[in-house]
Amino acid sequence: MSARRTIIAGNWKMNKTRQEAKGLVGEIVKGLSAIKNLPEIVLCPPFTSLTEAAEAKGQAAVEIGAQNMDWRDSGAYTGEISPLMLVDLGIKYVVIGHSERRQYFGETNQTVNEKVKAALKHNLVPIVCVGETLDERENELTDPVVSRQIAAGLADLSDEDVKKIVVAYEPVWAIGTGKVCEATEANRVCAVIRKTVANLKGCAAVAPVVPILYGGSVNPKNIEEQMAQEDIDGSLVGGASLKADEFLAIITAAAKRPRLSAAKS
Ligand code: PGA
Repeated sequence: MSARRTIIAGNWKMNKTRQEAKGLVGEIVKGLSAIKNLPEIVLCPPFTSLTEAAEAKGQAAVEIGAQNMDWRDSGAYTGEISPLMLVDLGIKYVVIGHSERRQYFGETNQTVNEKVKAALKHNLVPIVCVGETLDERENELTDPVVSRQIAAGLADLSDEDVKKIVVAYEPVWAIGTGKVCEATEANRVCAVIRKTVANLKGCAAVAPVVPILYGGSVNPKNIEEQMAQEDIDGSLVGGASLKADEFLAIITAAAKRPRLSAAKS
């Protein structure tokens, strides 16, 4: 069965005060009523606006996610936020291993693995990010790099756990640069990722249902072509998720994805 969920997630990064977050969530929710066949929508504001975002969405079919977390439940880890604290806020999703976390905050495939395991233990859905740098792409290392990130980041998970995760393929050189990865190439790498998931111990049967998103300069102009690809199940959107009209246009394009109704049935 190849039907998979379609997910559009907005990664706000370090943007928006509480008041601004409230306004943006309100605008997005208002726009959703005009869209039929909604995909799953996840908004990931900064920690400080999680509560405002959850309140502002009300009963709308939108989930709230965090952009990061520690893997430990509590303790002397100044500045960190634990999975228990996210659960306490009613959060459902958490982005893990975003390339900016890997690049600026020393995250590794091992810390990603700890965080993925902690998220699953607390019933949070991890959106696990992988992707190659420009240098790695130019040296034809894209496939081995993403395969290693997947194999190490998802190490020691049961098939039941792997079934619950979401993966985001985000080529580092395409993030925030306006240089989008060609849809067919993004699709090819997403298929490589799916194959790597299938090769994890006991995961051959669950790999076909794991949603794999593309991220990196997604906008209303390029989303349609991405959504037409077999192995791209949605988007992790940065810059364009900060503008309600652009994010709504992306959701509208995803709502037309042919497999959506099949995935729901
Ligand atoms: P971008 O960011 O859409 O601004 O390129 C994507 C991301 O970092 O998740």
